Amino acid sequence: MSAGVHLTRLALTDFRSYAAADVTLEPGVTTFTGPNGQGKTNLVEAAHYVATFASHRVATDAPLIRQGAERAILRAGIHSAGRDSLVEIEINAGRANRVRLNRMPAPRPREVIGALRCVLFAPEDLAIVKGDPDQRRRYLDDLLVASRPRFAGVRSDYDRVLRQRNALLKSAKTRGGVPPSAMEVWDDHLVAAGAELTAARLRLVSELEPLVARCYSAVSGTERDTSVQYRVSASRQTGAEDDVPGGPAGSAQADPASLATLLRRALAVRRRAELERGISLVGPHRDELELQIGGLPARGYASHGESWSLALALRLTAYQLLRSDGEDPVLILDDVFAELDSERRDRLADLVGDADQVLVTAAVAGDVPGGLSGARYTVAGSVISRV
Ligand SMILES: Nc1ncnc2c1ncn2[C@@H]1O[C@H](COP(=O)(O)OP(=O)(O)O)[C@@H](O)[C@H]1O
Ligand SMILES: [Mg+2]
Repeated sequence: MSAGVHLTRLALTDFRSYAAADVTLEPGVTTFTGPNGQGKTNLVEAAHYVATFASHRVATDAPLIRQGAERAILRAGIHSAGRDSLVEIEINAGRANRVRLNRMPAPRPREVIGALRCVLFAPEDLAIVKGDPDQRRRYLDDLLVASRPRFAGVRSDYDRVLRQRNALLKSAKTRGGVPPSAMEVWDDHLVAAGAELTAARLRLVSELEPLVARCYSAVSGTERDTSVQYRVSASRQTGAEDDVPGGPAGSAQADPASLATLLRRALAVRRRAELERGISLVGPHRDELELQIGGLPARGYASHGESWSLALALRLTAYQLLRSDGEDPVLILDDVFAELDSERRDRLADLVGDADQVLVTAAVAGDVPGGLSGARYTVAGSVISRV
């Protein structure tokens, strides 16, 4: 049998609560069980970090380094496209991380993103449905980068432009003005990066929509309609909602050129407010991914169980989308089963049982459906032992 994509090994040094751990992994399902606070999430966080160079729990790297240690080191063996590779990451607090691919330094760590693709589902994901819009934008952008790694650059360009433009607006506010030519430069950057990011998100949402509906039915066992729509804030700001993709009509494709025109118009409309408030009010950082169940906004209306099903459906959608354009991503289910009733547990197990590799964590082994059988480990005091 030619095995699909999977982590063959994961070794941690001074990562989170682990002084040292080294696990050999196989394709199929692997389950890690143990009481709370023992290091289960820390372990799968390490696997996710190897795929994305970011933690799903914290925005900075410092908490990832074991207390008292100088740096953390992750080593991951990855089997992909019929080949084995070794990714090594040295995580340094407050200084650039060092990455090696097959023992050769990778000058740009971004190039190694995509060596492993991974979809992680964790209790925190409820915030995609219930939380602020930035949670939903992050869901979209993470998926965008996972499916097309070049968007890592587009995303970070946009973030940088936004930071610098905000700094300029803020100083304009305190100093009572800014040279128009300086503002123009940052407007241009914002429009260029913003249009590209918005176009990519719109394209992604049109691919997602049918999958979310199917995954929601499959997870929840109901036929309730879900809808996923991307709202371009600049359409609202310019009163162009009726004729611009991303407005209420919603699902049409948008090309970067017309989105750039739209952003320029919105910048003109909001110019005075931006200067007054000292902050950028136009661009994809103000957009919303609107989720609905049964015709009502999920946020603020959906029940706890519905919100869970939708969060799960969004992650499964990510999994299927990545799967359809290449190899299977590694699927990580961190502490998910405890939150689900037994029917939804079994349905989820059916949906993911044939994935190339699934890493499951649970406090209680009995919460993991019997259908998900495979290698079993216990985690106690950050020591991982084969059962
Ligand atoms: N940088 C760190 N250094 C030392 N311990 C840490 C660090 N980060 C987290 N921990 C510890 O890891 C434990 C949580 O581990 P976690 O994997 O989240 O548990 P669980 O098994 O419940 O998923 C906590 O006791 C926390 O104090
Ligand atoms: Mg945990």
